[in-house]
Amino acid sequence: MAGQGPRIGLVLALWFACTGSTAAQGWQHIGKVRHVDQLKDGVELTASAARVRITAVRDGVIRVRVAPDGTFAKDFSWAVIETPEPPPIKVENGEIELRMTAGSVVVLVKKAPLLIRFTDAAGNVLLEDEPSLPMAWNGKSVHVWKKMPLEESYYGLGDKAGPMNRRNRSFTMWNTDSFGWQESSDPLYKTIPFFMGLRHGRAYGVFFDNTYRSSFDFGKESGDHFSFGAEGGELNYYFFAGPEPKKVLQEYTAFVGRTPLPPLWALGYQQCRYSYYPEARVREVARMLREKKIPADAIYLDIDYQEGYAPFTINRSYFPTFEQMIKDLRAEGFHTIAITDLHIKKDPGHGYAPYDTGIKDDVFIKNPDGSVYVGTVWPDDSVFPDFTLSRVRDWWGGLYKEFVGIGVAGFWNDMNEPAIFKYPEKTMPPGVVHRLDDGTTLDHRAIHNVMGMQNARATYEGLRKLRPEQRPFVLTRAAYAGAQRYAATWTGDNSSTWNHLAMSTPMLLSMGISGYPLVGDDIGGFAGSPPADLLTRWFEAGAFNPIYRDHTLKGTADQEPWVHGPEHEAIRRKYIELRYKLLPYIYTSTKEMVDTGIPLMRPLFLEFPEAETLYGNDQEFLFGPSLLVSPRVTEMMGGYEVRLPPGIWYDYWTGTQTPGGKTLFVDPPLDVVPLYVRGGSIVPQQPVVQYTGEKPDGPLTLRVYPGEPCHGSLYGDDGESYNFTRGEFIRLEFTCQPASGSVTFTLSSRKGGYKPWWSEVSLEIYGVSRSPKEVRVGDRAVSNWKFDEAQQCVTLALPDPSEGTQVRVIY
Ligand code: GLC
Repeated sequence: MAGQGPRIGLVLALWFACTGSTAAQGWQHIGKVRHVDQLKDGVELTASAARVRITAVRDGVIRVRVAPDGTFAKDFSWAVIETPEPPPIKVENGEIELRMTAGSVVVLVKKAPLLIRFTDAAGNVLLEDEPSLPMAWNGKSVHVWKKMPLEESYYGLGDKAGPMNRRNRSFTMWNTDSFGWQESSDPLYKTIPFFMGLRHGRAYGVFFDNTYRSSFDFGKESGDHFSFGAEGGELNYYFFAGPEPKKVLQEYTAFVGRTPLPPLWALGYQQCRYSYYPEARVREVARMLREKKIPADAIYLDIDYQEGYAPFTINRSYFPTFEQMIKDLRAEGFHTIAITDLHIKKDPGHGYAPYDTGIKDDVFIKNPDGSVYVGTVWPDDSVFPDFTLSRVRDWWGGLYKEFVGIGVAGFWNDMNEPAIFKYPEKTMPPGVVHRLDDGTTLDHRAIHNVMGMQNARATYEGLRKLRPEQRPFVLTRAAYAGAQRYAATWTGDNSSTWNHLAMSTPMLLSMGISGYPLVGDDIGGFAGSPPADLLTRWFEAGAFNPIYRDHTLKGTADQEPWVHGPEHEAIRRKYIELRYKLLPYIYTSTKEMVDTGIPLMRPLFLEFPEAETLYGNDQEFLFGPSLLVSPRVTEMMGGYEVRLPPGIWYDYWTGTQTPGGKTLFVDPPLDVVPLYVRGGSIVPQQPVVQYTGEKPDGPLTLRVYPGEPCHGSLYGDDGESYNFTRGEFIRLEFTCQPASGSVTFTLSSRKGGYKPWWSEVSLEIYGVSRSPKEVRVGDRAVSNWKFDEAQQCVTLALPDPSEGTQVRVIY
């Protein structure tokens, strides 16, 4: 019998190979190219009945579309906003292979069967089809398989949990209300079908623009290939050539749109819970924040402020003087954010305008038989606006008029996957009908994943109309690629566990590299009550997240910064205060994010793509271009490693200089987050304020950390209006030149008509190893400086400097 083993093994392998093959599963792979048509921006290939269009969208961006039956659907995208600017193309149509050169990218198409390969101009392969699995379809499903090089890692796909590197796992995109999600929970709330491949410092991106339930497999099925596909819609993807990871992200975000500049207050600390009520409790929490001198900018009203959970109503027994409360909070520097979920209570005959006008204007989603679809959510029987119609989005936007008039500052669109109770699918039936502006309809399979995005869009656009001079703040839970144009987001219903704190960093980083950078998680965890140390550590880590919001579920213990006593409160305050001190740096980095798509929270590989040992680091990250953060996310005793990228690094707390490219061992006590500044940075800071609208009392501080090259920037404006688009901003650029025994700081440029709050600048120059012999401002020696030997730092006050001001420290 023993001799039979290998034979049985072979037979089994063959059997698996046959029955497990895609053909046996009904996939029809694309065959031979029989005809080639040249288009002005690419080629159209005919293979049997199918047609494939490969076009150059702009230099470095190539699009592939497949029509299995030869007829392309109307070209439409919810995500893409950029209009094509095709580079010149050159097509060489050979017998075996077609070669299309489009700017810096070469597309090689092998003809029998049709296989696509993307290379750079030098012939380096960037991405190619798996030779044994050409593109295929099966009924309405479509699929693509790509070769998976051994050392390639994969990043992106939005809010997927677990490690940032997606390799060896598979994922589904179907927006889902996932209360209490864990590492293995999938799908989650968002659909961002964009990923980046990274290998030996070179990256490319792929955006699969398909709104149906889609899937991505990065080597779970096979170690040789990865694949993606969807249960319907078009096989339609874009390739972004990079090769720098930052460039991929810039190209992708230019394409699907970037987050607009948020109001400054949204970057402050936000206080939330499900729910603060009655009114007296809201006022009490606000008062305590001020009394305890815990800076805060926003306070949330979750669903209990509403009458019967009906959006756009106010429960007057809980909130007897709602309007006055909003005013009083505003007078104390708080912005109020009210939840307004997308489900409208089915409440005929009671004068509930959102329902009555919605029925009159025929705005609600319908069943296939033409009746209005009714589902159960917080208000019980509810109906749902058909957000795919622009007239419905306008109607929805108009619903905010009253709250905007009262002074409610921001709005929270939750449950917009859409979440429906009572059904195992947790959402609408697949057959409900969504109407489109062109008079056609699509069922829920096609629209499900964009509903949250269109809901957020309706809110954002409504607010733009109602308050044209104020930047809106909208928070959404569900999203499709491009939703960053309308709303910030958070990671949904996490839990109050150390594991969730640890999962927060890779998840938020993944959102950033998926083009969705304005994101946070529920500080302290939503489900459950965090023990004291966990909440403190979460406040510490959260200070370096783009959105900084404390939130928890109904019935859990209080979770405000002061719970657990004065020691914890003091540490939490220290980090919230640090957040406010860093606001000039955070706001400047936010402007960079808005202009370039490079997120505030950056994985190390984004800044250091050549440092391969840093790939997949799920614990450390850069906050803006200059700060490296490695928060403690475990309750385990003992220390952990911090891997410093190349360059020079300064300990933010002690000023100590450490050469990069090495690993530090840290064991931070409860009140310390390991925080390092990249040598060559100039970090602007301000005095602590209690809210962003308060004028800082004191100078602008510029912390100069010499290194090569050395530069820094500061962006500022009024923080709320659009005056910055009309020249009302300030932009300062700084440089520094370290030399042996000296360092020179220069304000190299000053632009914009905005008058800043400071009249004085405090320069702090680090890395000065001994007391200076001389400090000069321009060609004048000055004596008003101080030297801190322990911090190796020279401090000097300057009147608000003008362009060209130079300070030289000679030591
Ligand atoms: C959902 C949200 C949560 C909110 C709750 C009540 O669970 O994810 O943040 O507090 O609904 O509105």
